[in-house]
Formats: sequence, C-alpha cells, structure tokens
Amino acid sequence: MAQVQAVKAHAEDVMSAAMRRHLPAPLSEADPLVRPSEHADFQSNVALALARQAGSSPRALAEELRAGMVGGPFTATVSGPGFLNLTVDDRALWGLVSARLAHGGRRLGVGSPLTGSRIVVDYSGPNIAKEMHVGHLRTTVIGDCLARVLGFLGADVVRQNHLGDWGTNFGMLIQYLQEHQQHAPAAEPGTRVSELDGLYRAARKAFDADSEFAERARQRVVALQAGDEATVALWRQLVEVSTRAFQLLYDRLGVLLTPADVAAESSHNPELDGIAEALTAAGIAVESEGALCVFFDDMTGADGRPLPLMVRKQDGGYGYAATDLATLRHRVVDLAADRILYVVDARQALHFRMVFAAARRAGWLPDTVEVVHVPFGMVTAPDGKPFKTRSGDTVRLSQLLDQAVEAARAATADKPSDLSATERERVVAAAGIGAVKYADLATSRAKNYVFDIDEMVSLNGNTGVYLQYAHARVRSILARAAMTEASSGPAVEVVPEAPLHPAERVLILQLDGFGAVLAEVAAELEPHRLCGYLFALAKAFTDFYGACPVLRAESAELRGNRLALCALTGDTLARALDLLGLQAPERM
Ligand code: ARG
Repeated sequence: MAQVQAVKAHAEDVMSAAMRRHLPAPLSEADPLVRPSEHADFQSNVALALARQAGSSPRALAEELRAGMVGGPFTATVSGPGFLNLTVDDRALWGLVSARLAHGGRRLGVGSPLTGSRIVVDYSGPNIAKEMHVGHLRTTVIGDCLARVLGFLGADVVRQNHLGDWGTNFGMLIQYLQEHQQHAPAAEPGTRVSELDGLYRAARKAFDADSEFAERARQRVVALQAGDEATVALWRQLVEVSTRAFQLLYDRLGVLLTPADVAAESSHNPELDGIAEALTAAGIAVESEGALCVFFDDMTGADGRPLPLMVRKQDGGYGYAATDLATLRHRVVDLAADRILYVVDARQALHFRMVFAAARRAGWLPDTVEVVHVPFGMVTAPDGKPFKTRSGDTVRLSQLLDQAVEAARAATADKPSDLSATERERVVAAAGIGAVKYADLATSRAKNYVFDIDEMVSLNGNTGVYLQYAHARVRSILARAAMTEASSGPAVEVVPEAPLHPAERVLILQLDGFGAVLAEVAAELEPHRLCGYLFALAKAFTDFYGACPVLRAESAELRGNRLALCALTGDTLARALDLLGLQAPERM
C-alpha cells in the first residue's frame, strides 16, 4: 500500500476546486484557509476573507462554495457570518486507520516529498582534546533529529561532523606534550578523554603564563602546518583519542554520527592558500593591519566601523573563517548540496553571515543552494546563567548523562515492573538519556532553557519518559489482546461501517496529522513542533482509552477497530520517538 493523503490536505483540495469553479483568478488560487475547528473537524474562513473582492456577501459566497464542493468524504455546512464547517465521514476516518497501517516500511502513510534533494547537516563539531560538555548537547541532539526527519521525508542527508582539529591550540598542546610527557595519552579504547582535558588545561596555563613557551608553541603550529613528521604524529594521536571518546558518547546518546561522518577542519588545510589567493585576486579580501580580511558594508561594530572576517591572521596562520569558506565550497561543488544546514549556537550568527556573504561574492555559493544557520539558545542554570558544576566548571556531557540515568532510576523505582534486571537497566538508560534529549528538543530552538534534571525525568507532563511510558502502555494493550486472541496476533482488520466515538474521531484526526507536522519540522527546522504533536497524541490516546473499552469492547467489530487504532497509535509514537532520537522500549 502507498502513501495516504491526510484528510486536511484532501479538504484543501476539494475547497480549492470549488474556489476555482466559483471565483475568478487570482482569488480562485488563494489559500482555502482550512483549519482544525472546535465546531466541526475543520473550518474555513475563506468566504469571509474573499467576499468583498469577489463582490459578494460572505454568507452567499460560503453557500456557493459549499454547493461547489464535490467529491471527498465531507459534509459541509455554513454557519455564522459565513464560516464553512467541514465534517469528515466516519467511514473515511476508519478507512484512514487501515490505509496508514497497511503502508509498507512502517511509514504510516507518510510520503517522501524531499526525494531528490541533497541536504548537508553540519552538527556536533566538538573540538579535539577537549571533552564534550553541556555546550555540545544542543547541536548534537537537534542536528541529529533534523537529519532523521529530513531523511525520513526522502532527502538524501549528508551528515557532517566538523571536528575542530586544527589551529593554534594544537601548537600549544603538542609543544606541552613534547616537553612534559613525550607521548599523548594512549589511544586505547576506554582512554578517558578527561586526561586530554587535563592536558589542555596544563598547556593553556603554560601558554598564558610563560611567553617563551608561547613562542615555542607558535613555532610548533608552523611545524604542524608544514607537515613536520614528529609533530604530525603527535597531532594524529590526539585526534585519535578524542575521536574515539566522541564516538563512545555518540553511541551512548544514540545519535547517528559515525566516524564516516567526520569532516574535520584539517581536511581543508591544503585548500586554504588557494582560498586566500582567490579572494585577494578578486578584490574581495584586503590586507588590514597585516591580516587578510573581508569587510561588509552592512556588518559593523559598535563604533560603526565594518567588522572583519579574518581569512588569514597577522602571523600568517589560517583560522576558523578560512576553513569554513573551504568547507562551504566543498559542500556546494563536491557534495552537490541543495540545502546546507549549520546547527551551531546562536553566538556564531555573525560568523556565518559573513562566511555566507563572502562565499556568495566569490561565486562559491550559487542562489540555487540554500544555506541556513540553524541557531539555538543556551542551556542555563535556574538563575539564567550558563549551566555549571558546583565548583564552577563546565559540565561534562558524560557526567550529565550519568546523572540523568540515576534520576530516571529514582523516578521509576516504585513503578511496578516485571522486567528482568538487565532489561530494567536498559530501560532506565533509555529513559534517562531520552529525558535529556527530549527536554532539549521540546523547547523552542531559539530560546535558552533551564537544565532541571528532576523535571526532565518526570513521569507526568511533556517529557520523554512520559511519552515512552505512553508507548509501552499501548504495546501492553496489544500484547494482552494477542494473548486472548485464538490465532496469531491482534486483529487489525478494520470495519469502516462501525460506529465512531468522538474520542476515536479526535485520535484518528491527530494520527492523520503526522505527515504534516513532519513537513513543518523540515521546513522550519524546529523539532519542538514534533514534541508538541507527540504530547497531544499521547493525550488523545489517554482520552480515547478512558472513553472506549478496547479489550472489552461491546462487539468484536469494535474491538478490532480499536485494536487497529491502538496499533496505529503505537506505531506512530514509536516512529516519532525514533525521529526525535529516543528509544521506544516495548515494555517498561
Ligand atoms: N567546532 C566548532 C565549535 O566548537 C563548531 C563547528 C561548527 N561547524 C562549522 N562548520 N563551523 O564552535
């Protein structure tokens, strides 16, 4: 079975056809303004919006459009000053349930509108030799969710983990290693990257305190960039230890990133001279106080003077800007991207504006390619300040996940459960880690949010744990049905003629909106819309389950229909949780 058209889209089609029949262009092409309604399933105010231009009264136009609505499972009435109320036939609603269940690959009837487009998603991008901390949470979790949703809708998604593995810091680190340790921490599995954190701190201290060391560190950068063998060998060890530690964390977090997605800053090193030359030759970059810079009329500092995008620094080294220009060109030319998303915190907004503008001027970014900086706010403490440990350090991501798992254990401790000890451990981990990810995704991306672990693992409210429980509850109903069923499994045979309870209607309409909300997430790049949808779905299910007995339904027919509705709800919850990057355990 194939993709299923959502009933709202169907209503829009039928309304648009009626408008084409009764209205002249361009009025006939206007948005039919179909919205969910409290008075019917949907309502359209289009007659009120267009009557004056159409030279008619709203009520008369509404009547005309109503009469012109042909085909489609709708009953339309006109009310008030000219509202069109649309009610979907019961049969059609039950039909949607079976059609969505029958769609292969558990796609639930959702189409693949993004097929044929290639989308680069740049996310996570931690820096080598530093441990991932709370500041890396949002980019990793939001970027991964977007990659999943875009991929599900058919896009060819190219994940890019732009590791910070280049630049002046490495001179300092390698020089310190050479003078103090001779070798990098062993690149063994399990090597704690916190050792590297310690190294970073010590090297930084020496760099700031000792100007002679600082000078040797700068020489070391030159050696690294020139490809000096011993220097490069140490650098490679640092990269290896860090990359391995990052991967352990990605696996634990359940994000899609693998070593194959690494697109590190260093990989563009050989292109940087060419970038500087091309920009200079085109007159786009100019010398300024010994550095090579690009200026923009519309980007100025507090003093009104244009701010520089520094392509090459005074000391001749290249930095973040040059690398990002090379990266962008690579994504356009070699990766043939149609759309490039940079999931990076809001503080880098100016950097990306400058990089995009410079690339456009240089002809590296054609208008056919859409580049978007997808910014996000901070994770804060209750006082609104950056989230820190008691001692004022940045919170390591691994430590934060440990805390979340412990909190989930405590929160679920007195829930009755017949799981084995191992299963229980797995569920607690899924709940704890899911709680952190969900809390991050559920707040609107642009806002800061307060990190509150107890609230995150709460069993009530808009939390990951609540939704995971909602899913497990649906599965347990289905499992109980299977046990009482004579044959192989729960009947998901739908009888469209069966009566339809109002709570069933609400649930079916909610399920039917899944594809539309995914399309919204893909267009607006806002995962919290999917969270809001999921929470409303869980609520619609609770209301349905409270009002409509399933296992003890009045008739075999109703029981079958309701089990099908449970199955579709369970599958939709599981799919949505997966697209958010959360596990959906069958039992909890
Ligand atoms: N490593 C950078 C940081 O920690 C993030 C990289 C984002 N991606 C990019 N193409 N600049 O700030």
